[in-house]
Amino acid sequence: MERILILDFGSQYTMLIARRIREMNVYCDIVPFNKIPAITPDIKGIVLSGSPSSVRAENAPQPDLGGVPAGLPILGICYGAQWLAWSRGGNVAASGTREYGRAMLTVKDAQDPLLKDVPASSQVWMSHGDTITALPAGARIIASTEAVENAAFRMEGLPVWGIQFHAEVHHSEFGKQMLRNFVLGICGCAGDWTPDSFIESTVAALRKQIGTDKVVLGLSGGVDSSVAALLLHKAIGDQLHCIFVDSGLLRKDEFSSVLESYKDMGLNVKGVQAADRFFGDLAGITEPEQKRKAIGRDFVEVFNAEAAKIENVRWLAQGTIYPDVIESSAVPGASVTIKSHHNVGGLPKEMKLGVVEPLRLLFKDEVRRVGKALGLDPVILGRHPFPGPGLGIRVLGEVTREKVAILQEADAVFIGALRRWNLYDDVWQAATILLPIKSVGVMGDERTYEYTIVLRAVTSVDGMTADWAQLPYGFLAEVSNDIVRGVKGVNRVVYDICSKPPATIEWE
Ligand code: XMP
Repeated sequence: MERILILDFGSQYTMLIARRIREMNVYCDIVPFNKIPAITPDIKGIVLSGSPSSVRAENAPQPDLGGVPAGLPILGICYGAQWLAWSRGGNVAASGTREYGRAMLTVKDAQDPLLKDVPASSQVWMSHGDTITALPAGARIIASTEAVENAAFRMEGLPVWGIQFHAEVHHSEFGKQMLRNFVLGICGCAGDWTPDSFIESTVAALRKQIGTDKVVLGLSGGVDSSVAALLLHKAIGDQLHCIFVDSGLLRKDEFSSVLESYKDMGLNVKGVQAADRFFGDLAGITEPEQKRKAIGRDFVEVFNAEAAKIENVRWLAQGTIYPDVIESSAVPGASVTIKSHHNVGGLPKEMKLGVVEPLRLLFKDEVRRVGKALGLDPVILGRHPFPGPGLGIRVLGEVTREKVAILQEADAVFIGALRRWNLYDDVWQAATILLPIKSVGVMGDERTYEYTIVLRAVTSVDGMTADWAQLPYGFLAEVSNDIVRGVKGVNRVVYDICSKPPATIEWE
């Protein structure tokens, strides 16, 4: 499989470079700048990322490109370009005014292959405190901005380019075109890494890895574990044993409906009803992290007990995805990857299971594309994220069966209305929260003293930051009415209008 190697110097945009390259149907890997693998023929080119560091700093990240053949194309972006210039005898200095934001790029050499189909003048995005003040011998300017003369350069006679702007960000109008020129033109990649080709090669690899062994996998109802299951099922059929645990903390009727849809997909799945155990272990616990621990422990124990019943199982499959496995670069001030939470894991050591992770090369949107190509139920495919501890962290304070039942009813009203009003896909995540306080209300002639439900709906890209969704008043009025009228035990509904930060998406 042909690929591009991205050397990471700790820029917040490194993942974005990878996304852009993969959008061209070309596979790429992100590796720390100081862990360059052996350059095999499948590697068609190298991109050097940006960095929060300065090449002039004492502990500046210094890659060792000694093992890279002279003919292999290299593109340095921002810090990467500055390092290319600096390490070849050019000069880099503080830019005085930080070069930040939009700038107009003027092409100086329209014949250069990196600038093919890029107009004479276009907007680019700058974000650096240093600038290249002198190019090394043998370098030639191919584009400039008003403030930055050496905005883009090429080493004469070598397939080496540097650009000081961020071609990967949306604000660089022809940035995608330049990256295409590099990857598809200069590096000569075919661009044939599609969901179908991924499925074909992964299925073949899984068959080879697993042979006639049995594999166990924990399904959660979410996209990742479902796509991992479908891929494995395509590869090894009923040798795959799936386990889906009902913690009692899922949405209303979710256990039965998702189990049905897994069965419809032909999966060999065992549903395990374990709500009593979860509620028992949650009794008396009010602190959020303790609740998470209790729920996590129960998951692992229930899963293990069920897995132990499968004779001769040799492998544990997990829905780990690419952002979980990228090793972050050891650059001071580098952006930190927030790890996602995994709920099922830690099978007993004595079971000695090998680990299979068929999605470990994919970003979330790529998992969705593969899921779609595998025919995954669109309802599962488009589902909002749902936390592993489920409604256990949406009933604030102590979790009881009764409170969860109230919350499930209110939640079903809210989610149902989002779908009916065609708002479900406009929202990144929606939740209802049951507050542990009661307030006074009046229904008919009677005074009531009942619970409050919070509605939470956010827009977001990755859940790290989020805005509260500006849902129509008419919609909110309908949901509020339907909950207060239809859900016994609730007499008040409020809407959370706080963004993240400072508020988190979940209330616990
Ligand atoms: P917060 O509340 O941190 O949530 O803004 C960000 C995203 O993470 C989800 N979340 C969890 N997911 N286990 C999970 O699997 C957890 O303990 C957990 N806590 C929060 C949350 O639903 C949102 O999508």
